[in-house]
Amino acid sequence: MSAHFDFILLGQGLAGTTLAWYLRWLGATVLVVDREAEVTSSKIAAGLITPITGQKLNRTWRQAELWAEALNFYERIQAETGVRFFRQTPMLRLFANDLEPVAFQRRLAVHEFDGCSLLQSPVINDEWFLAERSGFEMHDAGQLDVRQYLAASRQQFQRDGGYRAYDIDLSRDLLPTAEGVFVEPLAAHASKLIFCQGFDPIPNPWFHQVRLKPAKGEILTLRIPGLDETRVVHRGVWLAPLGNHLFKAGATYDWHRLDQQPTDKGRTEILDRLAEFVRCPIEVVDHQAAVRPVHRNQYPVLGLHPDLPQFGYFNGLGSKGSLHAPFFARHFTNVLRSGSAIDPEVDLNRKTDWSSCSATPHGEDRQIPPRKPQQKNSLPLTQQAQAAIREVLQVGEIAIDATTGNGYDTLFLANLVGPRGTVYALDIQQAALDSTAIRLDAANQTNVTLIHADHADLDQVIPRESHHKIAAVMFNLGYLPGGDKQVLTHSDSTCRALRQAADLIKPGGVITILAYTGHDGGLAEAHAVEIILAEFDPLQFEQTTIESQPGRTLGPRLFLVTKRQ
Ligand SMILES: Cc1cc2nc3c(=O)[nH]c(=O)nc-3n(C[C@H](O)[C@H](O)[C@H](O)COP(=O)(O)OP(=O)(O)OC[C@H]3O[C@@H](n4cnc5c(N)ncnc54)[C@H](O)[C@@H]3O)c2cc1C
Ligand SMILES: C[S@@+](CC[C@H](N)C(=O)[O-])C[C@H]1O[C@@H](n2cnc3c(N)ncnc32)[C@H](O)[C@@H]1O
Repeated sequence: MSAHFDFILLGQGLAGTTLAWYLRWLGATVLVVDREAEVTSSKIAAGLITPITGQKLNRTWRQAELWAEALNFYERIQAETGVRFFRQTPMLRLFANDLEPVAFQRRLAVHEFDGCSLLQSPVINDEWFLAERSGFEMHDAGQLDVRQYLAASRQQFQRDGGYRAYDIDLSRDLLPTAEGVFVEPLAAHASKLIFCQGFDPIPNPWFHQVRLKPAKGEILTLRIPGLDETRVVHRGVWLAPLGNHLFKAGATYDWHRLDQQPTDKGRTEILDRLAEFVRCPIEVVDHQAAVRPVHRNQYPVLGLHPDLPQFGYFNGLGSKGSLHAPFFARHFTNVLRSGSAIDPEVDLNRKTDWSSCSATPHGEDRQIPPRKPQQKNSLPLTQQAQAAIREVLQVGEIAIDATTGNGYDTLFLANLVGPRGTVYALDIQQAALDSTAIRLDAANQTNVTLIHADHADLDQVIPRESHHKIAAVMFNLGYLPGGDKQVLTHSDSTCRALRQAADLIKPGGVITILAYTGHDGGLAEAHAVEIILAEFDPLQFEQTTIESQPGRTLGPRLFLVTKRQ
């Protein structure tokens, strides 16, 4: 027997927990699932909400409305759970150089801080701090004990069966269904599953195109016996009191080493910064590191998958998760409830180029134009190819990726057929197979047989027992993105492979051929494909051709061939 929920939220960090509360308040049934790792971005975060930050003394993006929502939200959860984990607390900003007081006065003069409760010339104890340039005090500020907030929420969710500890394997545990998503190992079904995973080194098969720019952060726990300051103090780094002369201090930023290892460099950087303004002796009692989920444009990102609306995404809370989570969880809840438009600044679909799934190397840095609202038939051709496959290929079946490349389509096929199915993935160059092997490893996929071969020999390299049982064959012609552009598909071998594929597939099976025309030989190859397909018996095969720019003979095109039952 399986349980049904309106929503399954994958991840119980700041994003998943906060979204769960808003959805529950609507009356939705919600299951939150988390792998309960000891260290996560939320679990080590200081939880500070600071209205003015950075060297330039910028007012935090949308500070007034986000702060109002956060304040209400955390107060309400404290009342519901009976646990105190949030405090509104003044913060002291010390000027670090001669430019900062000038910048502060200039921003005050142009009313940038209007509505922000500030105190100039605050009290500063000069036995504790070196503060020759003074500073200012911020009152619309707060500190969330994130661990406590998560634990209190989890307890509440557990009471009505709304929480499960489980490490979901995205490559095999989630089965999209006509009515939603089935999570096999939990025997749970939901109308929608929302990924609230934060940073995860394993690419999400449905959302790997989202342009995250994660940042590792290190944080220290300190004992400073001589210091009785109760405000959070900022000056390059921040120092946040925990009580009993314990403090948190941080944090560093590293966009390259995305692991959870505390480093000597990180520790020294924080301590050196503290030494610039703290006069008391400091003892380090703990040191942690985690990776913040930051989107390229720094704002959160949320929405539903363009093809599979049963999958949603709420991520990119960045370095201000405590402030961002309530406002945007409420916004996402409204969107889910009423189908209202998503705020363009956080809209997943505006910020994501879905076509990067196989034509663009993952993670490549380039300008992405905003995605136009698209009908199904105006989706990028890579996605239309996948959509055609998705309609046919079932769990447990056999599929072929005839041009494996960097393995995006291979992983897509592997996810569809699941552990009981098989994917044969061919490429003529080893570099492509190596790249694919890494992708499959990262996704824990073991149902793929990688074959270093020319697809012109398809019928020889595919085991005989699989002949005429193949449900889908994908061709994505051209060269390996990011690889050697001299190694590319050619008309003659492509045509031989197509004839064999047509023989190998079973009745009802599908072949997709995506032909690009921008490179040398590409247009000729697309024409050759048209000619070969014209030879296929129309009584036996149904065919559709989709042009990326209809009417333009030079654009890429997708050929879909289905063997009649
Ligand atoms: C050093 C440091 C200091 C910070 N300080 C502050 C601060 O002062 N103020 C502030 O506002 N923000 C701060 N942040 C940022 C804040 O922590 C993040 O914005 C926030 O944690 C992001 O929350 P999240 O829920 O998106 O991600 P996460 O906290 O990473 O949560 C994701 C959850 O999903 C779970 N999960 C992922 N995949 C799976 C799976 N397959 N199966 C089951 N579970 C899964 C994970 O276990 C995790 O619990 C700091 C971050 C760091 C690293
Ligand atoms: C555009 S890429 C495929 C992209 C891939 N579908 C993905 O998802 O990343 C084309 C691939 O076809 C491979 N290729 C070229 N000629 C081939 C042949 N005759 N047989 C098999 N693979 C070939 C190239 O090495 C290249 O990796």
